[in-house]
Amino acid sequence: MKVQASLVALTLMLGTVFGPPARAADAIVIKFSHVVAPNTPKGKAADYFKKLAEERTKGRVKVEVYPNSQLYKDREEIEALQLGAVQMLAPSLSKFGPLGVRAFELFDLPYIFPNKETLYRVMDGEIGKKLFKLLEPKGIIGLEYWDNGFKHMSANRPLRKVEDFKGLKMRIQSSKVLEAQMKALGANPQVMAFSEVYSALQQGVVDGTENPISNLYTQKMHEVQKHLTLSQHGYLGYAVIVNKNFWNGLPDDLRKTLEKAMQDATRYEREIAQKENDDALAAVRKAGTTEVYLLPLQERLNWWKVLLPVHREFEDKIGRDLIQAAYRVAADVEREGKDK
Ligand code: LMR
Repeated sequence: MKVQASLVALTLMLGTVFGPPARAADAIVIKFSHVVAPNTPKGKAADYFKKLAEERTKGRVKVEVYPNSQLYKDREEIEALQLGAVQMLAPSLSKFGPLGVRAFELFDLPYIFPNKETLYRVMDGEIGKKLFKLLEPKGIIGLEYWDNGFKHMSANRPLRKVEDFKGLKMRIQSSKVLEAQMKALGANPQVMAFSEVYSALQQGVVDGTENPISNLYTQKMHEVQKHLTLSQHGYLGYAVIVNKNFWNGLPDDLRKTLEKAMQDATRYEREIAQKENDDALAAVRKAGTTEVYLLPLQERLNWWKVLLPVHREFEDKIGRDLIQAAYRVAADVEREGKDK
């Protein structure tokens, strides 16, 4: 962590020596850093936002997108945003715990979202707004929520029964809920930056991981994972966030234009997320390096039984009210579906 912190500090220092980081010539520069490949839902939406923002501001704003952890890795990128070395990020919702906002780990609870409709209502409704409010004292503004769909488990051993996880070293993001989830399955969770996962899998530092297929495929993890279980046991989404001082310091008209561009990029992101993941699954099957396994109903029920107690365990940390509110949204969605 010390090394990461000093890297950020060095970047900032260079920024001070060579001029302010957020402006180049006349244009206001937004550095948008992320950790995934350009051909993922997040990567494509970041590029689309750049296009809309630059067109609609007629060049007054320039958006520089840095994919694949080119600029910063997971933990450092949030620190870099707070320090103003970058202006925009879209970290996964599982990465806000280390910042001290554990409530975001609501999204990590296993099986919390029975469908996408529930998820969108949680993100776009009161719960999502409440979570964004928690970021403001940290110097961060949340703009929108992006989607990358449900996660699946992969390893070099078949993962069919809960017992198959016993003793496996599983890479996780920096979330206490994910840690508890892997422990509940009998695995050994290891927090690791996204950019390090491929080589850790390749070298056997960890045995497996969890991901939406778009991430698995675009990082070539399928080449080093022999087994993939389509478990849909959890969810991965993003919060598009900006440095608060930077954002509030923008001229009003520009900020409004950018907010609208971000809303349009969000609509686009959510439209493509499912297809990107479906295409990635087809590509994994085609590559033939990974056996894809569908959990039969009885096994799914066993996973549920083992993983649902994680909700209770985290009532204090996440907030019982918040968890109950998410359940209510799920119940509303189900009732409305039945009423139709
Ligand atoms: C991960 O670290 O597995 C993901 O959060 C990466 C991402 O941003 O999708």
